[in-house]
Amino acid sequence: MQRILVIDDEASIRGLLKDFLETKGFEVLTASDGETGLTVLKEDKFDLLLLDLMMPGMNGMDVLRNIASEKIDVTPIMITAHASVQTAVEAMKLGAFDYITKPFDLEDMFFTIKRALDVSQLQEENIRLKKELKKKFSTHKIIGNSLPVQNVIKFIDKIADTDSTVLITGESGTGKELVAKTIHYQSSRARNTFVPLNCAAIPKDILESELFGHEKGAFTGAVNTRIGRFELANNGTLFLDEIGELVPALQVKLLRVLQEKEFERVGGVKTIKVDVRIIAATNRDLEKAVKEEAFREDLFYRLNVIPVHLPPLRRMKEDVPLLVEHFIAELSRRKKKEPPVISPEVMRYLTDYRWPGNVRELENLLERLIILKEGDTIVPEDLPDRFHEKRQAQRGLAKMQSLSSEGVDLNMMLDEIENNLIIQALEMSKGIKSKAASLLGLNRTTLIEKMKKKSIDFGAKTVE
Ligand SMILES: Nc1ncnc2c1ncn2[C@@H]1O[C@H](COP(=O)(O)OP(=O)(O)OP(=O)(O)O)[C@@H](O)[C@H]1O
Ligand SMILES: [Mg+2]
Repeated sequence: MQRILVIDDEASIRGLLKDFLETKGFEVLTASDGETGLTVLKEDKFDLLLLDLMMPGMNGMDVLRNIASEKIDVTPIMITAHASVQTAVEAMKLGAFDYITKPFDLEDMFFTIKRALDVSQLQEENIRLKKELKKKFSTHKIIGNSLPVQNVIKFIDKIADTDSTVLITGESGTGKELVAKTIHYQSSRARNTFVPLNCAAIPKDILESELFGHEKGAFTGAVNTRIGRFELANNGTLFLDEIGELVPALQVKLLRVLQEKEFERVGGVKTIKVDVRIIAATNRDLEKAVKEEAFREDLFYRLNVIPVHLPPLRRMKEDVPLLVEHFIAELSRRKKKEPPVISPEVMRYLTDYRWPGNVRELENLLERLIILKEGDTIVPEDLPDRFHEKRQAQRGLAKMQSLSSEGVDLNMMLDEIENNLIIQALEMSKGIKSKAASLLGLNRTTLIEKMKKKSIDFGAKTVE
């Protein structure tokens, strides 16, 4: 039941309002002066306050001031016989929702009360939704304990609430869009729109009109005037994905918006001003594209004000179990399925895998497993072939050794196999030790140690 407090020094008005509002289904309390009213407000929660302006002692304006300074959560409506624009404006400034003059018509008063309650309910709902959105895109959603991920999270916190242009780089599926959204929802632009645009997914000839909009009749097919993504994103954030694919003509136009914050619609003459934060992303090496003159250098520097690089998943193997846990919980909830159990062996397969498709590949794999194995334990056989290839190759290699009747010296044998494989790996990688190490599933320093111990010298060809 919604609760209303009436503060009025006239007993007849208090009685009238209480009886009437109770018949309308409200719970009504009354107070005969400002001080008492304020005490009740502080101790109890009300949805609405009907407040007389002229009272002996603490008057209505004083009560409003106290409500504001003490941040009491209630919607006040003023009642007064001395209606004047002056007091109305002053009361509204102090946070009154509306203003009713005495003598009043009870049904009119009821209408005003309903409207005030509807609006405040909407506002509360709005605040709740915004909080939820903020939570949804807070950096807690970016999973990872490894140093690179933690650094990205800290960095986002620092740069989110600036207007500077951000350039996010990283392989496919590393979370570039997730980071862009997180930046937007952590900035003060969060209440405005996040507008994504994938520069590679839209045909070149309509990309310009997608970005800047067009005027009616600008080209065949332009039957109506249409606003572009820049205007849609006004006061918000425009996410330009795969920026490396932008053709030179549009690179020039984008550069101008970044510099001047203005543009014209295609076929238009009116200059449109916008306030848009740009976040761009690419999985291409833009610096290389600049050297090859495929991407404008001036545009690159305009975009690369704040660079954020997302490392590939194979560099953050320690995060794989965390991500698995996160996606299993999240995806099972979303698909309304019992979460399956991941066997320790499967977890080892997942951690060892190279993940060319990064986090997205992991997410897609888990989604498939959840659908196929609801509530069951996932075993290595459930994993697709690509997870087994390396192990099968290993097994094949190991089986090639056969034991003769004279027996073997196992340690010598293993040593021999090790030498042989190290040399092969070095040959295959043309002496580049980091590559050879990766072929052997070792890190570079371990390989170097082994080479020293075994006096394997890859001669002048060896490159670090
Ligand atoms: N660190 C992370 N924590 C949680 N989820 C992640 C993380 N990184 C990526 N994801 C999830 O992985 C999926 C792929 O991420 P996203 O779409 O942001 O990648 P992308 O870099 O934009 O890929 P592409 O280059 O292919 O467009 C998304 O569902 C995203 O939420
Ligand atoms: Mg993307």
